[in-house]
Amino acid sequence: MVLPRRRGGHNHHPCPRRAVLPAAALLLLFLLAAVTLLYVSPPPLSDHPALAYSRRRSPHALLNSSGGGSLVEPGRREISRVPKGGWSATDGLWGSKLASKFYGCSNSSSKFLDSGVMTHPDRYLMIVTSGGLNQQRTGIIDAVVAARILNATLVVPKLDQTSFWKDASDFAEIFNADWFISFLSKDVRIVKELPKIGGKLWAPHRMRVPRKCTQRCYLNRVLPALVKKHVVRLTKFDYRLANRLDSDLQKLRCRVNYHALRFTDPIQEMGEKIIQRMRERSTYFIALHLRFEPDMLAFSGCYYGGGEKEKRELGVIRKRWKTLHASNPEKERRHGRCPLTPEEVGLMLRALGYRKNVHIYVASGDIYGGAKTLAPLKALFPNLHTKETVTSKDELAPFSKYSSRMAALDFIVCDGSDAFVTNNNGNMAKILAGRRYNLILLISLGCHHGFPCIRI
Ligand SMILES: *[C@@H]1O[C@H](CO)[C@@H](O)[C@H](O)[C@H]1NC(C)=O
Ligand SMILES: *[C@@H]1O[C@H](CO)[C@@H](O)[C@H](O)[C@H]1NC(C)=O
Ligand SMILES: *[C@@H]1O[C@H](CO)[C@@H](O)[C@H](O)[C@H]1NC(C)=O
Repeated sequence: MVLPRRRGGHNHHPCPRRAVLPAAALLLLFLLAAVTLLYVSPPPLSDHPALAYSRRRSPHALLNSSGGGSLVEPGRREISRVPKGGWSATDGLWGSKLASKFYGCSNSSSKFLDSGVMTHPDRYLMIVTSGGLNQQRTGIIDAVVAARILNATLVVPKLDQTSFWKDASDFAEIFNADWFISFLSKDVRIVKELPKIGGKLWAPHRMRVPRKCTQRCYLNRVLPALVKKHVVRLTKFDYRLANRLDSDLQKLRCRVNYHALRFTDPIQEMGEKIIQRMRERSTYFIALHLRFEPDMLAFSGCYYGGGEKEKRELGVIRKRWKTLHASNPEKERRHGRCPLTPEEVGLMLRALGYRKNVHIYVASGDIYGGAKTLAPLKALFPNLHTKETVTSKDELAPFSKYSSRMAALDFIVCDGSDAFVTNNNGNMAKILAGRRYNLILLISLGCHHGFPCIRI
């Protein structure tokens, strides 16, 4: 996904529909161009051995820099010369004229009643989120909408402190709770703590709703319990609300995601400091959200060119998921479900026209294979940075022990970058893509369960 940013005017959260046709046409063009560059006529980048090989061979060949010769006839080489010099602001890589066609559309319609009229005084909804920061964020967004559907007051969500990501921060240590409550006050009544109802402190009735529960599903399943018990706590609240909703409820979702959820001041300030340090290094920068952790690769069932060692290591991790089928790496790759490797991301960016001197901020967890895996990307783009390289240990200290705060810093930098690129379609990538929809050039190289295929 490559999302250059519309410069200036960051407050509106846009409605992509009107511009879909021209945008889609543009995307198709770019996609064709990218595919052509990658598969037909490799650019003559002599500084990188892998680039000299034909893209007609198996994609694994991209990872293989140990042998093989060029299968391309010399005449072709002149056709698609990828510039190696500096960037230019006019080549469409950092912005788009079509961006002006996008506009914010998260305001509610006049039919949307004030929360003061809707909220029943004896209905309280509590939720417990689940997963990493961005999965929890989607849960918080859905919880606001669920409370609205039920005419209930929402108690500020409890964050998941026990999952894999192990972060003991509470809501108010990640998000600005006062802003969250006040921004949404007309939509949903939100309180920090469960109050006494009728002079009595009620024990919440715990329950779990099915995944993708619709509006009717909430009214059928949760409302009766809420009316009877007054306080309901929904556990493991992730993806528990249907994607399709009334347009006013969908807009409420946008208001929560794009306006009501703000990080706390210390996180926001640190994130902006990192952006500022990137800008000191160059006028424009790319943020690359690279998911290439061992667990994610194992889950994909793909082969990444690391030989028997890789097959063995990922095979062991893969056993953790009892429900996975035996992997068929060739099929996964044919179906476009393998996340791009750091090298492939680098090749794609060079093919799109981003030049060697471009500065890239890499947002990522532990990369499988570490520096060795990143080396081919670094050869293509030597100016790679992370939050650890642009800040001091002391500056990062208040954040580094908390995975969600660290993820929040990456989120802010990706959001503030000139172009956003990702090799996956996970929660963070989707949320950022939504935020950046006021940009036009959207090439998504990730769709199914976070693994790439080409989709417009
Ligand atoms: C890499 O290239 C060598 C020499 O062409 C070949 O023997 C080997 O099988 C290739 N490895 C992969 C993973 O494609
Ligand atoms: C949405 O509402 C805000 C606040 O009332 C207003 O400033 C803004 O112009 C509205 N946006 C649109 C696109 O109508
Ligand atoms: C919520 O309140 C509105 C307005 O009073 C009403 O039309 C709707 O039926 C109520 N829904 C529930 C679930 O109580």
